Amino acid sequence: MIQFLLNQTLISVQAIDPNLTVLNYLRQHQHRCGSKEGCASGDCGACTVTLGRVEQGKMVYETANSCMTFVSNLQGKQLITVEDLKQGGQLHPVQQAMVDCHASQCGFCTPGFVMSLFTLQKNSRGWQHKDAEQALAGNLCRCTGYRPIVDAARQACEHSQQDIFQQQEALTVKRLMDLQNDQIQEISFNGHRCLLPKTTSQLVALLDEYPDAKLLAGGTDLALQVTQQYRTLPLIVALQQIDELKICQVNETEIVLGAGVSLQHCYRLLSEHIPPFAHILERFASLQIRNQGTLGGNIANGSPIGDTPPMLLALNATVALQKGSTVRRLPLADFFISYRQTALQEREFIRAIIIPKVTLSQNFQAWKVSKRREDDISAVFAAFLLETDSSGRVTEARVAFGGMAEIPKRATQCERQLLGKPLTTSSVEQACAALEQDFSPLSDFRASADYRLQVAKNLLRRYHASLTDGLNVLEVSRYVS
Ligand SMILES: Cc1cc2nc3c(=O)[nH]c(=O)nc-3n(C[C@H](O)[C@H](O)[C@H](O)COP(=O)(O)OP(=O)(O)OC[C@H]3O[C@@H](n4cnc5c(N)ncnc54)[C@H](O)[C@@H]3O)c2cc1C
Ligand code: FES
Ligand code: FES
Repeated sequence: MIQFLLNQTLISVQAIDPNLTVLNYLRQHQHRCGSKEGCASGDCGACTVTLGRVEQGKMVYETANSCMTFVSNLQGKQLITVEDLKQGGQLHPVQQAMVDCHASQCGFCTPGFVMSLFTLQKNSRGWQHKDAEQALAGNLCRCTGYRPIVDAARQACEHSQQDIFQQQEALTVKRLMDLQNDQIQEISFNGHRCLLPKTTSQLVALLDEYPDAKLLAGGTDLALQVTQQYRTLPLIVALQQIDELKICQVNETEIVLGAGVSLQHCYRLLSEHIPPFAHILERFASLQIRNQGTLGGNIANGSPIGDTPPMLLALNATVALQKGSTVRRLPLADFFISYRQTALQEREFIRAIIIPKVTLSQNFQAWKVSKRREDDISAVFAAFLLETDSSGRVTEARVAFGGMAEIPKRATQCERQLLGKPLTTSSVEQACAALEQDFSPLSDFRASADYRLQVAKNLLRRYHASLTDGLNVLEVSRYVS
């Protein structure tokens, strides 16, 4: 059985199909039709809802694309939808701001925008334009235009006032805490099952019993199989309830991130420790997706165009893989085998990702090139880490790309050209030429093979320029289209 609060109503449900998304649950089971389906693929934000959870005795609110979130993800949380905002006949301040600023025309996108604004206001540090941009980047509007919506965001954040959710916070925390327990939960319907372990020991036991079970983390990748390919997942083991997979530790030399750490949490943590990594995460999908999607999921899905693997390769990261009670550490470079094939064995899962800290003598940068700045998948992703000695010779070169091969991959020939030489235009040009030996990229709807190769070379030149000419190319380049 899973239990959650639908606003303040306790819902306990056992007989429910784990392939059901929160959006379909709301519309079909709760007859709450405010949340809309625009794309069912996480791209438009019309289905945005707010999920509340308890962290250190306080409520934390995050947006989610309900079209991509399976119902199992609601366990122990508060689900707030657009229907919950109006209280006693009075619009919530964010709804009123949308009205005051004329921020809605046809209205299809409006519930999603309202929920993104509501969550922004909950987490608001006053008005910050960048926060609003990030909060709204995952919501599309075809007719109003974004200026009035940003005006509404500003009004809502500048005139933030206590609302019913703040007034009820202590009660909500208590009610959610009462839902916590150590037992494996289960939902099932129509022969489809989902098991929700709370510990890695329970996970290990379940994988021993059900080696064919599909692991579900944030579901932002997996859910597409259901919503786009119309497949069903007969047996799911959900990882979201396992706190051990969310542990983050930083020591003198390493950053250890649990596989279940959300991408948004990675963003917050890495802003301090590896700022270029965090900066790129601002362009990883949308806030809704980053709130749910995990670092482990971004690696385990084995995509050649995932954003974190090239950075992790350049940083020489390793993954801790657990099978039974045995944990092995594998360099990430050995994890990706072939297109969407990884070194994960049956019953094995990613427990953590270990990133060596960038030292003072190292320089790390990364660039994402996509057709659109926000909420788009990379055409080419490049990550560079160089170390030079006191004479300026390159002593360590790690160059990794996404979108250039069937797996995220180091450019070993290119690295060889850089090693042992001073970083000059001539050595960089030789390294650029070597990229042709490293990669024979594909042409697809994101980019042609020629374009990819040209961009890869240009990104290496750009990296060189950023190091040697002191050019501030970082801002411009991250929005390359
Ligand atoms: C609209 C949209 C935009 C996107 N934009 C980007 C983008 O800009 N950049 C990008 O890189 N990706 C993007 N993605 C892809 C996706 O969001 C990421 O890959 C995300 O990190 C997946 O994590 P998850 O936790 O949601 O994984 P899930 O969907 O839960 O799982 C993905 C796969 O990993 C497996 N898995 C998950 N955790 C583990 C584990 N601990 N051990 C073993 N196997 C595991 C699952 O079984 C599944 O096969 C986007 C997706 C959407 C829908
Ligand atoms: S319906 Fe478009 S993001 Fe969910
Ligand atoms: S108001 Fe019509 S899509 Fe936004």
